[in-house]
Amino acid sequence: MRLSVIGCGYVGLVTGACLAEAGHEVVCTDIDKQRIAQLQEGGVPIYERYLDKLLASARKAGRISYTADAGEAIRSGDVIFICVGTPPKPNGEADLSAIDHVARQIATEARSAKLIIEKSTVPARTGLELRRALTAYSRNSGLCFRVVSNPEFLREGTAIEDFFHPDRIVVGVEDEASANDMRQIYRPILERAFHCPVHNSTCPPGNAAALLVTTINSAELIKHASNSFLALKISYANVIADLCEKIGADVEEVTRAMGLDPRIGGQFLRAGLGFGGFCFPKDVQAFIHLAGTVGVDFDILKAAERVNKQRIERFFEKVRQALWVVKGKRVAVLGLAFKGNTDDIRFSPALEVVKELFREGAQVHASDPEAMPKVKALLPEVHYHQDPYEALRDAEAAMVCTEWDVFRDLDWERAGKLMARRLVIDGRNLYSPARMRQLGFEYYSFGRE
Ligand code: UGA
Repeated sequence: MRLSVIGCGYVGLVTGACLAEAGHEVVCTDIDKQRIAQLQEGGVPIYERYLDKLLASARKAGRISYTADAGEAIRSGDVIFICVGTPPKPNGEADLSAIDHVARQIATEARSAKLIIEKSTVPARTGLELRRALTAYSRNSGLCFRVVSNPEFLREGTAIEDFFHPDRIVVGVEDEASANDMRQIYRPILERAFHCPVHNSTCPPGNAAALLVTTINSAELIKHASNSFLALKISYANVIADLCEKIGADVEEVTRAMGLDPRIGGQFLRAGLGFGGFCFPKDVQAFIHLAGTVGVDFDILKAAERVNKQRIERFFEKVRQALWVVKGKRVAVLGLAFKGNTDDIRFSPALEVVKELFREGAQVHASDPEAMPKVKALLPEVHYHQDPYEALRDAEAAMVCTEWDVFRDLDWERAGKLMARRLVIDGRNLYSPARMRQLGFEYYSFGRE
């Protein structure tokens, strides 16, 4: 099938690259002309494992192309994926102006009927509004646009693997024909008929993904309800961690045992600095806002958000307890991205830590495998080191803010010899407290003795 992707951010590029690998012909467009030029030259504007490989092979096979001309992209596809951003407004509501803009473009530029797939994360009822807007904007052409909501559940860092091996594919439709078209688009994924860049065609056996056909409103709600529930789980684990500290228990022991109950599940119970990124914080806010607009008070979600915001303060209680005076101290910050395996720094708890360290007068030496170029522009006063051991040299404390494997695997014996003081404040619970103490470190983490 010929597919158009509007919006070459993380979701658009991953969707375009994976669907091209699955055999479709994909044309991508974006209002950012520089981004399109970079993609046309073979560059990849974001870091996501396997994305460069996939885009290169799709390009070589002639299955993916890029154009800055949205009209051309719109006319060339029978199916249009809308993957534009829906950032939060100051009141938490999702800003849908980019979706409205794209609706107008589609209605004016299209010359034939299209299936419009809303992939951007949006509040419930957006799909219905989108269809209404498309009808209004195209009243002169009389073209027919069908709208589908197809939320994505990709995690940054493992997005390609998630796309090819999804737990579920949700399609919110208004008619059977749209459901059939969606089945057609995802058939290679459902039948595992693709060359997997992650497992090189020896994908682990697993259940085939389920394609769930729902209403458009339900599909939109599923996305927000899923992300918000995961955020809730993280905040729950963080409160348990605080409780463990007061009572003298170990949060890892508690959450591991909890997670063995299949009704609870072991994932997203890692205590620490809390959740960041461009999805959870904004989706939680948008969901609270949406509930408020229809008179439903989402108190538990408000509490999850509050708990998350307090994580930085909890972290600094440990910093002050350990360092006493922060002013003038040289500290190493390990990790700037909002989580491991990504260069994304949006709403990253690590940046909140760095900013607070500056407010308190510390000298910050930081290391992150991928995120440093993005942070440099925002925080030029940080000293950056590609090699984490260089960031640790002469530091009076190390603060672990992102769960990268390179930090998990650090040789602390070596690091200890380089540091001015053997002190680690671990915001991601990466190390064994017993082992760190054995190596002569003062070691602080969340919810563990
Ligand atoms: C999240 C969802 O997991 C995806 O399913 C969804 O598609 C995506 O949002 C989206 O809406 O686009 P992502 O933001 O990439 O994916 O990151 P997660 O892996 O979910 O992690 C979010 C944050 O929670 C990170 O800051 C991470 O460090 C933190 N986290 C995660 C914890 O603090 N504890 C945990 O146990 C798990």
